[in-house]
Amino acid sequence: MLRVDELTFAHPGQAVPYEFSLVAPAGEVTAVSGTSGSGKSTLLDLLAGFLMPISGVIELDHVNLVPMPPEQRPLSLLLQSESLFEHLSAASNIALGLPRHTPKAEGRQKIAAALSEVGLDSVGDQQAGTLSGGQKQRVALARTLLRARPVLLLDEPFSALDDETRVLIRELVRTLTIRHRWHTVLVSHHADDVETLAGRRYVLRDGRLEAA
Ligand SMILES: Nc1ncnc2c1ncn2[C@@H]1O[C@H](COP(=O)(O)OP(=O)(O)OP(=O)(O)O)[C@@H](O)[C@H]1O
Ligand SMILES: [Mg+2]
Repeated sequence: MLRVDELTFAHPGQAVPYEFSLVAPAGEVTAVSGTSGSGKSTLLDLLAGFLMPISGVIELDHVNLVPMPPEQRPLSLLLQSESLFEHLSAASNIALGLPRHTPKAEGRQKIAAALSEVGLDSVGDQQAGTLSGGQKQRVALARTLLRARPVLLLDEPFSALDDETRVLIRELVRTLTIRHRWHTVLVSHHADDVETLAGRRYVLRDGRLEAA
């Protein structure tokens, strides 16, 4: 279980701090919605370790994540605009998710398996900059697979996609979350995403997360 308890934080000049509490079980998508500027990305930045809280708890299976630097935290982050290196091939982008010192043959086999799992067998050698938006998000998900981190943070990951692609990628996130027992935290203000994907739902309002 990913557990956030009374996690407080204030941006410079912010009078009343945020205070976040939520639980995100394994194998489920936990949704956080809220109006623009309500603090959703701030919450994810705190979970990812890009921001430090004033006080409070972030625990995964009873292990405290707060003292860990971002690169050591057991999580992956997927944003609205995919963060691929455009001049590298899809496969090379995915390879960035491999642990250092992975033997070459093993790496190649894992990349092929990840490409196949996200339904992209044929584009491994294609330059990332030439892929469609949906294909890029798939490559980013494949990289996440190789990282094999149990928490997946998604910040509006489908918003740049057309409706059809959006549904496909959404299904993929659902399948991967269940199959790999990820604790997936989805930030979205699309009611549709939340309806179809989420187990637990929260709304961020006045700096607090309310169960919805
Ligand atoms: N580095 C910063 N310094 C000061 N204020 C900030 C900083 N980053 C964000 N904020 C403010 O914190 C509030 C929450 O921002 P945040 O990006 O978390 O909102 P959000 O819910 O993700 O919005 P959106 O749906 O538009 O992405 C906003 O009022 C924003 O202006
Ligand atoms: Mg945001």
